[in-house]
Amino acid sequence: MSKQMSAIEAKYEAQKIAFAPFYFHATIALKELGILDCISKNRRGVLLKEIVDETGLSIYGIKILLEAGIAANLLEENEEGYLFLTSVGQFIRSDRMTEVNLNFTKDVCYSGLASLKDSIVNGKPEGLKVFGNWPTVYQGLSELPKKVKKSWFEFDHFYSDDAFPYALDIVFSENVGQLFDVGGNTGKWAKACCEFDKNVKVKILDLPGQLNVAKDNIINEQYADRVSYHEIDLLDDQQYIPEGAGVVWMSQFLDCFGAHEILSILKRVYEAIDNNARVYILEPFWNNQRFPASRFCLVGTSMYFTCIANGNSKMYHSEEMKEMVVDTGFEVLDTFELIGDSYHTLLKLRKRQ
Ligand SMILES: C[S@@+](CC[C@H](N)C(=O)[O-])C[C@H]1O[C@@H](n2cnc3c(N)ncnc32)[C@H](O)[C@@H]1O
Repeated sequence: MSKQMSAIEAKYEAQKIAFAPFYFHATIALKELGILDCISKNRRGVLLKEIVDETGLSIYGIKILLEAGIAANLLEENEEGYLFLTSVGQFIRSDRMTEVNLNFTKDVCYSGLASLKDSIVNGKPEGLKVFGNWPTVYQGLSELPKKVKKSWFEFDHFYSDDAFPYALDIVFSENVGQLFDVGGNTGKWAKACCEFDKNVKVKILDLPGQLNVAKDNIINEQYADRVSYHEIDLLDDQQYIPEGAGVVWMSQFLDCFGAHEILSILKRVYEAIDNNARVYILEPFWNNQRFPASRFCLVGTSMYFTCIANGNSKMYHSEEMKEMVVDTGFEVLDTFELIGDSYHTLLKLRKRQ
């Protein structure tokens, strides 16, 4: 955004922040009460009365939300009183990425975010207390309320899913043999690997709660015998990564840790592998985005890590990550930027020779 703003514009921008929670919830209400759907149904636009008839809501309630929608540039009203969705309103109504982000903010983050300042001061995810007394969200992930869990997983998967097909081509362009999926979560990447290469063996390393979910998802697949599981808490620096990996894969994993923890994890990866093994890091680096919207979302996501996830991790700048990689004895062999339609960069590493 231009820094050359008039005082009137700047004051307006400041008020958008001051009232942001009101407009956020008005947007959710417009969507979930079916008002956006109702307005989008007719190309000639829709009158207030038609919305009242279709939704059964009060004129008062609908007026409150319509006025908010117009102020937030989701809706427009013409001189005859017909209402239309703007292009912003269209994205709010039907764009999948916007939906995933809205649900994540609403269900996972909103209540806890009020503790952001305390989280910064205390270096702890104070907002996580809304859900339970775990040290990080990862210990509690499998126990979160159903709706919260759904929004968490949809947010996590929405972004990495798009990157996986392109990453498979890159990773399997060389012989893999045994792949370790560190932070393998529900087993999506492990499944994709087994379906892509009929010889590969995959070991998923994760906390027990997630490993159980991965096992349930894989147990009935015909390649189930090619997948093994290794329970590990990598926050405990006495827990070592086993030997034997031809490829170590870490997707949207290192951003779950603070810098000193990443250094400790990378050191343990370094100790576990031989000189020929390859290490891949897949991350949506905030500096390496094609659109301002994606940078905005990633920088915002860092506050989820501060307040809800663990109090000390973030979405990283690619150079921050590369520095940590080099500091632990690796060299970056290749950087595959923004592969496919995704927001991700794939770093390919090996031990410095
Ligand atoms: C954001 S998810 C990424 C999942 C998946 N790799 C992807 O790309 O969608 C992070 C994963 O790291 C795991 N994780 C977080 N903290 C961990 C720890 N201390 N030890 C082992 N795994 C951990 C979580 O359980 C989760 O499965």
